[in-house]
Amino acid sequence: MTARTDMTDCPFGIGNTPLTPFSITLNGIRHELLLKEERCNAFGSVKDRVAWYILSQTIAEKGPVEAVVDASSGNYGYALASICQEMGIAATIVSSSSISAFNAEGIKRAGARLVIAEPAPGECSNAARMRVAGEISAAEGQTFLNQYANFMNPASHEHWTAPEVFADGPFDACFVTSSSGGTARGFSDYLKAERNGTQLVLVEPEASSAFLAPACESGKLKVPGYGSQRRSSFAGMRPDPGMLRVDEASVLAAFTLLEARGLTHIGLSSVGVVVGALEWLSRQSERRRVVCVCADGDERYLDEIDSRYIPSVGADAFDAARARLEPVIASMAPEVAA
Ligand SMILES: Cc1ncc(COP(=O)(O)O)c(C=O)c1O
Repeated sequence: MTARTDMTDCPFGIGNTPLTPFSITLNGIRHELLLKEERCNAFGSVKDRVAWYILSQTIAEKGPVEAVVDASSGNYGYALASICQEMGIAATIVSSSSISAFNAEGIKRAGARLVIAEPAPGECSNAARMRVAGEISAAEGQTFLNQYANFMNPASHEHWTAPEVFADGPFDACFVTSSSGGTARGFSDYLKAERNGTQLVLVEPEASSAFLAPACESGKLKVPGYGSQRRSSFAGMRPDPGMLRVDEASVLAAFTLLEARGLTHIGLSSVGVVVGALEWLSRQSERRRVVCVCADGDERYLDEIDSRYIPSVGADAFDAARARLEPVIASMAPEVAA
């Protein structure tokens, strides 16, 4: 737990996010579902922790930096750009055309340069972002923070996010998704170091191959930060995490159902994690208590739900998923925190 001091020194209102309790009744069994609401961080996502942790540790090790560059699917870039703006550091963020309008505008509003990486033939978008960020650093001299391969990324979760979550344990299972694999690896390392037997479950769409399948498989990802087509640099943890596949049509259907009921304001990848948890709970024969790490909030997606995300899965798949998930979401209710 070496890095604790650096986190308490964080001047930006990052960390100590709420753990919001819900009950859910499936097959007559009432389970406890807790949502770690990372949207409540200063810049709105779990990646605030990673951006602050990597930047502050880099400065602590190497001294002041004038300019940084890094790759991001969007949330990390927005967090890094916002932190750099406050600290007077120039930031270049390399993302992909799939970045949300919310994050793209936020990065520019924070005064950072946003570069969209074009994948080379056979290259997945995540690998293209990393390559271009490295090229820019080599050509222009910015410090390349390299979140996708920098072990400070999982360390931020091992030493910060996970201890916060498990302070409110115990849990029967913990559900996360991946983009870089930082959260998954950090939680896995934490559980191993603490000899905590809680089952870690990764929830991803079919086309994702961050941990358990070969890289750059066919099939497109539809939600930024929900899965990755590049094998994570942090893969190889033991034990292998559990894996649950939840398709994007189910994610979008559940998102609109949760919004309509005013139950939560979590973002799309987080809803994927929750649907995975509900699927896991529906197979349990006794009462369980589980936690979902919810990476961001709905404000990043609401503007593009009808114009971009629902058309990406097709209206028929969306309607079918909505009909299937409606009774499940209907049995979910807020709990009064203990
Ligand atoms: C929307 C979203 N969900 C989840 C994640 C989880 O990411 P990681 O695996 O990098 O911890 C990210 C990270 O970029 C994200 O943007």
